Amino acid sequence: MKIVQISDTHLSPSKTHFNDNWEPVARWIAMVGADLVVHTGDLTIDGADQEEDITFAMELMRKLPIPVLVLPGNHDVGHLAGSDQPVDAHRLARWRKLVGPDYWVSDHGNWRLIGLNSLVLGFEDAEEEQFQWLEQALAARDGRHVAIFAHKPLFVDDPAEGDTGYWSVRPKQRQRLYELMAEHDVALHASGHLHWAWQGRLGETDLLWAPPTSFIIDTLEREMPGDRLVGAVLHHVSEERIDSEIVAVPGLTPHVLDHVIEEVYPRAAKKVVEAAQ
Ligand SMILES: [Fe+2]
Ligand SMILES: [Fe+2]
Repeated sequence: MKIVQISDTHLSPSKTHFNDNWEPVARWIAMVGADLVVHTGDLTIDGADQEEDITFAMELMRKLPIPVLVLPGNHDVGHLAGSDQPVDAHRLARWRKLVGPDYWVSDHGNWRLIGLNSLVLGFEDAEEEQFQWLEQALAARDGRHVAIFAHKPLFVDDPAEGDTGYWSVRPKQRQRLYELMAEHDVALHASGHLHWAWQGRLGETDLLWAPPTSFIIDTLEREMPGDRLVGAVLHHVSEERIDSEIVAVPGLTPHVLDHVIEEVYPRAAKKVVEAAQ
């Protein structure tokens, strides 16, 4: 089986800056003969506030000739408490209405794929509900190998680092995930969000950050491990192994967020200006 992972498409019918990369991605997905697509979030520019961004992006996903499993990103359902667009019940309900479940399990032969909603970590009872669901999904895997997909990476520079705020899972929840991953022999944790592509390993688990299909970030944010590129991931799944390949998909334009941030994310642009002053 082949699984294509795409991430951070940042699509919108009104802010069309990155839409031109969708057609080459869709063509490549058909060309590589994938069986399934997993989208690891930031489907939209601003689905957290613009319902039509989600509708528009899901129309494109549903036109793909193979099944697509989609996870929410911070731009789709909101982010941390205290941010401009905190995750809330309304935003989560909109996602569930327009897309479907915000976390899921999907079995394929000897493999159990688990999709997690990174954005409910820290959000009221939803965090604990998802953890309990995850514990059950792992305990009931019945000998299958497990691959976990999520929007946010577990860490950025160091598995034992402190709170990275916007960028990764926070230390307390991260530790709980580490323990579950070790206990249940999780083969892969694959994420998006950073707009950097990287592969590593933690214990017995392969770690992967998928490249975005939309834009790279030049100097607006700190340097991160890995490569700045636009592309996708091809996961080759056999009975006992999953081998993941980061692919620079032909025909994609490496849009640079720094050049368009005032149009695309004006609130974030304002913060960058304020931080520089
Ligand atoms: Fe993103
Ligand atoms: Fe994100």
